[in-house]
Amino acid sequence: MATKSMATQSPPWWEGCVIYQLMPRSFADADGDGIGDLAGITSKLPYLEWLGVDAIWLTPIYPSPLKDGGYDITDFTAIHPDLGDLDDLVVLLEQAHSHGIRVILDLVLNHTSVLHPWFQRARWAGKGSSERDFYVWRDDDHSYAEAPVLFCHFEQSNWEWDEVAGQYYLHRFLRHQPDLNYDNPAVQEAMLAVVDFWLAKGIDGFRLDAVPFLFEQEGTRCEGLPQTHAFLKRLRARVEACDRDVLLIAEAIQPVHESAPYLADDELHAAFNFALTANLFASLAHGQAKELRNCLTHAQAMVPGCRWALPLRNHDELWLGDGHLVADDVIQTVLAGFPTAQGHWLNWGINRRLAPLLNGDPRPNTLLHGLLYSLPGLPCLYYGDELGMGDWPGLRDRDTNRTPMAWTGERNGGFSTAPDPLLVLPPITAPGYDYRVVNVAVQQQLSGSLINWHHRMLTSRRLLPALRHGAFQLLESHHPSVLCYARTSASMTLVVAANLAATGASTHLDLGDWSGSRVREVLAGCEFPPASDAWFVYLPAYGFFWWLVGEEGCAEDNS
Ligand code: NOJ
Repeated sequence: MATKSMATQSPPWWEGCVIYQLMPRSFADADGDGIGDLAGITSKLPYLEWLGVDAIWLTPIYPSPLKDGGYDITDFTAIHPDLGDLDDLVVLLEQAHSHGIRVILDLVLNHTSVLHPWFQRARWAGKGSSERDFYVWRDDDHSYAEAPVLFCHFEQSNWEWDEVAGQYYLHRFLRHQPDLNYDNPAVQEAMLAVVDFWLAKGIDGFRLDAVPFLFEQEGTRCEGLPQTHAFLKRLRARVEACDRDVLLIAEAIQPVHESAPYLADDELHAAFNFALTANLFASLAHGQAKELRNCLTHAQAMVPGCRWALPLRNHDELWLGDGHLVADDVIQTVLAGFPTAQGHWLNWGINRRLAPLLNGDPRPNTLLHGLLYSLPGLPCLYYGDELGMGDWPGLRDRDTNRTPMAWTGERNGGFSTAPDPLLVLPPITAPGYDYRVVNVAVQQQLSGSLINWHHRMLTSRRLLPALRHGAFQLLESHHPSVLCYARTSASMTLVVAANLAATGASTHLDLGDWSGSRVREVLAGCEFPPASDAWFVYLPAYGFFWWLVGEEGCAEDNS
């Protein structure tokens, strides 16, 4: 593992890395109890290496009553017994590193479970005591009235009455998840000690859950307050003290200008760009590049370079928000463009997996991933999306999107040998997405399959430093459906064009900066006419190209 002194001379490990997000309970079950586990993940590392991802992000693995998919924690420094134990995690880390894969843990700073000993202690302790002060209590439920209720399908208020305490406690998420009181220095220290614990275990990064909500202030939405940023800087300093490069990535479902401050040089290394995700879907729904172009311009103006992490889908609903994340017309465009979203609105977004949302059409699916893998930032691939896996609408909450990975056509999709009633969630047998057809083993044998497409894209990306860390420049396209941009590193220029419409598009592109240079398409491996300022090209419906412009070949560089 790289030491910090080495790391200061070379880029950190996450530069341009592709992150694969998986739900440990639904990925692979090694002990046959019907629930995925850490040993199961370890057994699938050769697959992940073959696929070509650089890091895995595990959603919470801690002891939890699972009222919110494990984001309701009862012990921050242990492993949920269903998943294994700390020794299993150490094995996973060692094995992952030997496969060239880093491991990122989900760290939930904002809240605990009501069953956490800190909360139980707090509610029984006297009012005003240091134990009570670990959480945010009030005698009435009137405070912070401007803070929106986030889980609005499940909760009507951010306050819950506690009979034992005789007070209300604050919960920005479910009532089972009381907010920690970061105004209390002891809380800050306790959570920094949790960070130290996992650093000592050798983990490679943290995905910091719900970071905007750590502190509260009357008269605000209680999001991204200066005190929150000050604490995150302390956390960064704590991580810096460790002798390795450890990635800190923010989950802040905020508009770009509110997410950007998390990326101050002394704060976090990366942040998800959920506004860009929403605009990707809006552009696709609209068949126009405009929304995406505007959002990219804005995001790069706020934080130039590759520090935005880009998900298409994840374990939550596809967040569009209440008009705060993106404008109402963007939300309406998405809803109008995807009839498959109808009836699937949950909280503030669309509760569907990618493939069914796209009605099983592989063309927009590969287009979206083609953009994901070539835009500046850290692409995040959600487990199963490399297969075009389906979902199970009607399951509780967001479980719709969290069903077992389809490995083979055997019973339970090869996920588990347990009898059906013991399975954590039902494997997909919906028409068009049945695990007997849509699974890893079958798709690996079909050269034209989605999984082999991802494997080829990720392998190509590895050979293209311009995509990992190259500068980003939007280029002129004369067709409203076509987005065009260049990625340039010391050794190469890559030009990308993508047609967001369901019809073909002929257009001129301005490649004047490279006039007369050779142009070769990377994925098809074919030669195009030399570049010019009015370079004519045809893109089929949802088509896209990655062109290498100039004489340079695919090579490593560290610019
Ligand atoms: C964001 C997580 O992605 C989501 O799954 C969870 O419910 C909330 N944070 C609360 O922890």
